[in-house]
Amino acid sequence: MSLLDHVTSDLKKEGISPGDTILDVGFGDIEELKLLASLVKPHGSVIGLDVDLENIQRIEKRLARRHSTIISVKKGSVTDISSTDQKFDFVFCKAVLHEIRSIDKALEEIVRVLKPEGCMVIIDFMQFSRIEFKLYKALTSLFGNHDVHPGFDPVDLKQILSDQPMCEIKWEKLPYKGHLGFSDKDLFLLKARKK
Ligand SMILES: C[S@@+](CC[C@H](N)C(=O)[O-])C[C@H]1O[C@@H](n2cnc3c(N)ncnc32)[C@H](O)[C@@H]1O
Repeated sequence: MSLLDHVTSDLKKEGISPGDTILDVGFGDIEELKLLASLVKPHGSVIGLDVDLENIQRIEKRLARRHSTIISVKKGSVTDISSTDQKFDFVFCKAVLHEIRSIDKALEEIVRVLKPEGCMVIIDFMQFSRIEFKLYKALTSLFGNHDVHPGFDPVDLKQILSDQPMCEIKWEKLPYKGHLGFSDKDLFLLKARKK
């Protein structure tokens, strides 16, 4: 099973269904948006949010060619989501938080835009050595490396979420790795439901 198959089966376990509304924070490329759209079609919607304007414009052109009515993308930051409260059934955030300075604010915003009983799914890197991270930053920051955190201990994220109106906060180390820096790093998946 691939990572995306794992994600699909996890989202299904959490009750994702046709008609749901999903926010994909830091979507990166269209494949992730297409996967999420396949879970909520034909009447649901997937909104991709990203800070990278060039990327947004590129994806917008591709979506226009596909005449996609389910997926839309917009520029914005996870630390200041331009959305009303309680809008989404799911917020998906994969390989983004390690690029965000204010994790507390990002999580608070994700919780804010979730509907009651809505579910957040976060995937990111397990914490690795700070020395390795510093070396990696030193060697790559000239080329626009935006990474801020050497991964996370999911227990710390759980702790932050315990101050939010969230329940069923669970995490697992995934049997997959993601590429970061000079090597592949372990990934975790954390999910929680809004009260
Ligand atoms: C490593 S990529 C991950 C892309 C995709 N989710 C994946 O897993 O392949 C990180 C993405 O997060 C976006 N990003 C970085 N900071 C962000 C922020 N403050 N708000 C929203 N997106 C952000 C980047 O532009 C980039 O597209």
